[in-house]
Amino acid sequence: MDKTPYIWLDGSFVDWDKANVHVLTHSLHYGMAAFEGIRAYRTPGGTAVFRLHERVRRLFDSCQIMGMKVPYSREQVFEACREMVKKNSMDECYIRPLVFIGDGAMGVYAPNNPIRVSIVVWKWGAYLGEEGLKRGIRAKVSSFTRNHPNATMNKAKVTANYVNSMLAKREARESGFDEAILLDPAGMIAEGSGENVFVVRDGTLTTPPLPNVLGGITRDTVLALAADLKIPTVTRNFARDEVYIADEAFFCGTAAEITPIRDVDGRQIGEGRMGPITQKIQETYFELVRALPEGVWTPGTCPWCGSFPAYGDLMEDGRRRLSCLLCGGAWLGPRLRCPFCDTSDSRALTHLVAEGNEEGYFIEACRACRGYIKGVDRRQRWNAGPPLLEDWASPHLDLHASREGYWRPTPCLAHLLPPDAAEAPPP
Ligand SMILES: Cc1ncc(COP(=O)(O)O)c(C=O)c1O
Repeated sequence: MDKTPYIWLDGSFVDWDKANVHVLTHSLHYGMAAFEGIRAYRTPGGTAVFRLHERVRRLFDSCQIMGMKVPYSREQVFEACREMVKKNSMDECYIRPLVFIGDGAMGVYAPNNPIRVSIVVWKWGAYLGEEGLKRGIRAKVSSFTRNHPNATMNKAKVTANYVNSMLAKREARESGFDEAILLDPAGMIAEGSGENVFVVRDGTLTTPPLPNVLGGITRDTVLALAADLKIPTVTRNFARDEVYIADEAFFCGTAAEITPIRDVDGRQIGEGRMGPITQKIQETYFELVRALPEGVWTPGTCPWCGSFPAYGDLMEDGRRRLSCLLCGGAWLGPRLRCPFCDTSDSRALTHLVAEGNEEGYFIEACRACRGYIKGVDRRQRWNAGPPLLEDWASPHLDLHASREGYWRPTPCLAHLLPPDAAEAPPP
């Protein structure tokens, strides 16, 4: 692995070589630490972290499940991830936040040991190989059962769960395969050692339901992409024989991205290469993560990450300089004019107020001429395109919550280096 200049450790940027911990670090002994895997991609608009909000949220969910209180806010961890990419001058990289229990008391119960956080970034190419991405990989159904959901709980992305993954992965690799597919305690397909799994038969994508698998953000993205591409999807349990007779199969994950499976347990899957649906999903996925937000810009939403609300300062010429609360992207809004006295004088428009009422209408008023108007129904406006927000008034952090059926494959990217404010097209 190539070193990068800095590692974020407990709130500070420290030199790579100085980011060390004591051997009595509790997590080293008993395996309780929560982590995330995140990728930043080079896009025409600058380096962008793909679905960072959801990953920071899952990190905090994992800690909540484990009863670990993170000594930083979600916003601080979110910002620290972005800062790490910038500070280490990475254009494409993998980001690994880790929340772990520091040294202090020994023994399994050590509630007062410090909770520590590190974030490391590094260059990471195709996890299952470039060749695997193009031609597909060989998988083996593991002799190791996926952790029971009531053992270490699969919703938590915690290091302890990866002992199970490592055993399966080693067995697969040492038996001449590339990756393992683990079965759940009932013998149904669960997931790969570090990926979710999909099969395709007769044009329908099928993936195991969430209770027994990690709620993969790539899995969620694939489901959203499939909906947009009008590919039917089913979420249900299935056994290994359904994989053997699938037309196509693929793994998906932040590290593995969309990797076709060409063979399982020595049985060729479909044509033994990437199938057309997998190819379509893979292409669309890579377009998405490396996309320009062009064509998906909806006035009033951030053109970089699609979120709402943004906030803005009014400039002298009556335009609003908007900034996104979530990704920091900046752009210029349309020139505002009072619909009654037609003024675009910023002193008058400073008093142009917009307040939501219970029906979702905005009352807009100009205090210069005292005119007011019942504004647009924001819910109507969103119906035309993303973001499809039922509850537009909820705090901005929840707006990016991944809700099946709500999230559309707009580039939900947290840009590190948003371009200079650009003239916004008319609404
Ligand atoms: C066991 C397991 N399942 C699924 C995934 C895929 O999750 P995501 O798409 O959020 O990376 C991972 C990723 O690390 C994983 O470790």
